[in-house]
Amino acid sequence: MWGGRFRETTAPSMEAYSESVSYDARLYKYDIAGSKAHAEMLAAGGILSEQELKDIVAGLSAIEAEIEAGTFRFRRELEDVHMNIEKALIERIGPAGARLHSGRSRNDQVAVDFKMYLRDQCDLIGELLDGVRRAFVRLARKNIGMMMPGYTHLQRAQPVLVSHHLLAYYEMFSRDRGRMADCRRRLNLSPLGCAAMAGTGLPIDRAMTAAALGFDGWTANSMDTSGDRDYALEFLSVCTMIHLHLSRLAEELVLWSTSEFDFVNLPDRFCTGSSIMPQKKNPDIVELMRGKTGRVVGSLITLITVMKGLPLTYNRDLQEDKEPVFDAADTLSAGLSIIAELLDGVSFNAETMESATRSGCMTATDLADYLVLKGEPFRKAHATVGRTVAYCVDAGRDLSELTLEELRQFSQVIDKDVYEVLTTEGSVNSRISAGGTGLVRVEEAVAAAEEELGI
Ligand code: ARG
Repeated sequence: MWGGRFRETTAPSMEAYSESVSYDARLYKYDIAGSKAHAEMLAAGGILSEQELKDIVAGLSAIEAEIEAGTFRFRRELEDVHMNIEKALIERIGPAGARLHSGRSRNDQVAVDFKMYLRDQCDLIGELLDGVRRAFVRLARKNIGMMMPGYTHLQRAQPVLVSHHLLAYYEMFSRDRGRMADCRRRLNLSPLGCAAMAGTGLPIDRAMTAAALGFDGWTANSMDTSGDRDYALEFLSVCTMIHLHLSRLAEELVLWSTSEFDFVNLPDRFCTGSSIMPQKKNPDIVELMRGKTGRVVGSLITLITVMKGLPLTYNRDLQEDKEPVFDAADTLSAGLSIIAELLDGVSFNAETMESATRSGCMTATDLADYLVLKGEPFRKAHATVGRTVAYCVDAGRDLSELTLEELRQFSQVIDKDVYEVLTTEGSVNSRISAGGTGLVRVEEAVAAAEEELGI
């Protein structure tokens, strides 16, 4: 493509090192759509004749059909997807094909392709997130009323509803949904027409190509545009956040499926056995999901590192943007669809979870709040309950198991109504503050989520 200026052909080692077609070929559909829109615009501006436009569009369609049929041969010596398609077009339709690249550079071309690809990925991941959100809401509805220990520092803290815990993930993935939509909105401006980096002297119409390709408008500064990969970094940041959420969920599923916790049963179809220990059922899939978070975080760090220190505008370093983005998008999509499917097959061991709430003095805060309602200052109540808990620990009993007489040794204001707050049910159902775990609040939250998702 640049033979005119050169006296040597490309070194084979250079060719292998610099090619990108082995991975950017997957952008072919966007590249062809971008070229068609560009050709239509050139024809409208009189730079291509109607016949040339027809030939270009037909040629590009034929190439697309060949790629889809798997009969198109991508050639490494043609470096990238853009030059492979352009060269094939020229071979197919002759001189008209050679006119297509007027008023355009691979710098704006690659940005168009990449943004269109990312736009589709934002939509796809958005839908997959909805699938995960739906799975959480279904699970929360199905298990409504079931109780479990809530943890801080991974120490039993206060009893909560299982559905409240599940809806915490619903909230996390809902924020992620918003982040993806936001990322898509910000990236959806067309780079086409920025050419190499300074714009072009040819009479092009950026508004026309932007509209044809579904962009909301076009970018304002050609220099910014040819060196900009903020949108890819933003996409990777959002992917990282989502995968972090998947990882935390995976960690809880791993913990909860141990015999030590025994809170949850993962579906057999998402577990593996051991080649030596016949009794084992290992939560490999969720462990892998936790592990694959490293790849996604790594992809973000890779691109941050590529971008750091790049002068304006386009630098070939930017070609290193694609593999991390493709890898992160593929990894995340797979994880999201698997987790939605897995959640549908999860069951909880209600008895184990509820009985875990009846040890460890988990209603200590409730006792303190009870004393506050009876007029004690909270700090004094905290100390009183602390002494009561120490007594329980020595006696190996739970707060709810103490007799009224025993309780009154610690505070004279305690009466029989104390047992209403010392039980798990009493504790959970007293927490009706907005956003709390009380059944009324959680029922409202499930209903709101169902409405939001149209369940
Ligand atoms: N394959 C290149 C990339 O992915 C396309 C743009 C190349 N532009 C250039 N001037 N070398 O970034």
